[in-house]
Amino acid sequence: MNKSETAVSPEITARANTLLEQMSLAEKVGQLAQISGADFMPGPPAEEIIRQTGAGSLLWLNDTKQFNELQKIAIEESPSGIPILFALDVIHGYRTIFPVPLAMAASWDTAVPEQAQAIAAKEARAAGIHWTFGPMIDIARDARWGRIVEGAGEDPYLGSAMAVAQVRGFQGDDLADPEHMLACAKHFAGYGAADGGRDYDPVFLSEAQLRNVYLPPFQAAVDAGVATFMSAYMDLNNVPASGNRWLLRDVLREEWGFDGFIVSDAFAVGNLVIQGHAKDVRDASYRAIKAGLNMDMASSSYLQTLADLVEDGSLAVEEIDELVRPILTLKMQMGLFENPYVDETLLEKVIALPEHRAAARLAAQRSMVLLRNEDNLLPLAKDWQNVAVIGPVADSMEATEGSWMVFGHQPAAVTVLQGIRAKLPEATVTYAPGPAIRRDFPSPFEDFMPELKKPPQTPEESDAAFETAVTTAQAADLVIMVLGEEAHMAGEFASRGSLDLPGRQEELLKAVCALGKPVVLVLLNGRPLSINWASENVPAILEAWEPGTEGGNAVADILFGDVNPGGKLPVCFPRNGNHAPLYYARTLTHQPEGSPMYRSRYWDSLTTPLYPFGFGLSYTTFEISNLQLSAAKVKVGETIEVTAVVTNTGQVAGDEVVQLYTHQKWGSDSRPMRELKGFERVTLQPGESKTVTFQLGPDELRYWSTNANGWVQEAAAFDIWVGADSLATLHADFEVVD
Ligand code: NOJ
Repeated sequence: MNKSETAVSPEITARANTLLEQMSLAEKVGQLAQISGADFMPGPPAEEIIRQTGAGSLLWLNDTKQFNELQKIAIEESPSGIPILFALDVIHGYRTIFPVPLAMAASWDTAVPEQAQAIAAKEARAAGIHWTFGPMIDIARDARWGRIVEGAGEDPYLGSAMAVAQVRGFQGDDLADPEHMLACAKHFAGYGAADGGRDYDPVFLSEAQLRNVYLPPFQAAVDAGVATFMSAYMDLNNVPASGNRWLLRDVLREEWGFDGFIVSDAFAVGNLVIQGHAKDVRDASYRAIKAGLNMDMASSSYLQTLADLVEDGSLAVEEIDELVRPILTLKMQMGLFENPYVDETLLEKVIALPEHRAAARLAAQRSMVLLRNEDNLLPLAKDWQNVAVIGPVADSMEATEGSWMVFGHQPAAVTVLQGIRAKLPEATVTYAPGPAIRRDFPSPFEDFMPELKKPPQTPEESDAAFETAVTTAQAADLVIMVLGEEAHMAGEFASRGSLDLPGRQEELLKAVCALGKPVVLVLLNGRPLSINWASENVPAILEAWEPGTEGGNAVADILFGDVNPGGKLPVCFPRNGNHAPLYYARTLTHQPEGSPMYRSRYWDSLTTPLYPFGFGLSYTTFEISNLQLSAAKVKVGETIEVTAVVTNTGQVAGDEVVQLYTHQKWGSDSRPMRELKGFERVTLQPGESKTVTFQLGPDELRYWSTNANGWVQEAAAFDIWVGADSLATLHADFEVVD
């Protein structure tokens, strides 16, 4: 699907206009409101609002029967009988949970998120949910920011590819398809650049940074036909994103031609007062409407004040109509008027489909990244008799399914411990969690997660757990350590100052390694971690992320060689949280990094990443060679073709992700020393070769220039590298001429 395929037909526009003419002002305002279906919210019950004015949408409810009941009220009792759009955060699965989005980006295979989100949509639609608040496509270059887990990492090119794949997965080819749902590109825009990685903190980005780095995934989502957008919470250059006319009107609608609707983030309209932008609720509504924000999520500011604002002439009714129209047209396009109810028997059939679990297992396998494998310790043979699995997340269903479950979801993951036990039915597999890990400051979401309410361990309990873990490891022949973060340690409200393994995990890792047994480290986490000690002392490290319902099986598949890992990091791993933000696409500066005098920007540590962007190992080896360009020179506006040959030089079949990086050597602005401009994940049998082809055209070679104050494609020389990560050395030059 693309933007033209989702474009509103003249018939639907005419139908929406006719409906608009019949609606009272109160009903119009109702359509601009997204009301809460959760019982934790104060204010009139949802039924009452629906009965009086109808509602554009309802969120924070996950109950099929109640959806139908509320829909019936909307249709039979509200004045114009307009059906409600039921919305929920379906981020990486509804019942079948897929790897977190950061993990899916590590697959470097757009089929992974596309299929995952198609299945998520099918399950969620069967539950009665029409609209998801995803994909989250914020670029994040600061691993301390908790929400890095929800996006595709640091890179705009990879991020755009993953954004498009997710939009396609959620929405399918036709908005009227009852097995798909409306997607929502969020959070527009710049949220990932929060000062210090602190969630919600202000963001300062130049127009060039926005245009070159943070906005491309959003524009790609528009071009892919995304139906809705969500405005972000934070101040962007001192203007709250939800009251930001430049973002919402000038860029999104006028420049990019987006014709769907924009919902605020939760309470963001009301928050314009708290943020010091609006005088009061009325002023907040006024500013949000002027900025072009269609739907007020949960703050009820529009419900409280819009009618007055129109009645006293502050806002024209046409301004309201303009914002209501896309909400009505989308409801019409998706066939909601014809099919407002959900078949209550459907969900149980859909969630039981075995292909959903199979897809989740495949997605998890393809997302995992092998970070270290000294002396080919992995893959492990299946005849180990006595295996210890150690670590606080080894048997945690929450950590395996990961950050952001849908409301009311009961974790049901195959944990790593279970996956290993299933893989080695004959072996003795012992388990000890070691000391518990927990946040220093609890998550505000704990109220919804009773399992987090466990009392903290006393120092004595922690010591005892430590000892048990070491003794358990001591008694085994092979130790698999499963360390990382619990699910609520990444996500919203889940930023960190440090990127170390939380709690006593590294201490435990050292104690276990000191036993002299073979040790494999499996990481379950939603962000890069500074595993400096492990990277030098633990022979085998598998980054499994938060891998979803089938995560434990996928880990076992890889550890025991049924699957060869092929994922690559979508974000670099800093050596220290204090190094954030850290990303590969920096400019060269007057003292390029790596020059003998400036090996590091700090005098007390290396600034290079512990693991670079694009990095990941395999059980086989690859060679990338024979880099060829279709021409040494091309004219501005022309396309150059780049080819390289990748060969599996090892003994087993495997996947390599061939990556293309460019660097414009001079121009009106300094350009990043490398920028990803192409990638392809290929599967090769031992000895097999394949030629990979990339196109570099004006879209890949242009950029937003501060100096020129606009998009430019310039006559200049370029470096090209093709290889297996962002440090690729296979190099060529070409020139763009006038
Ligand atoms: C706040 C989050 O920032 C956003 O991502 C989410 O979609 C909404 N709440 C709704 O739950």
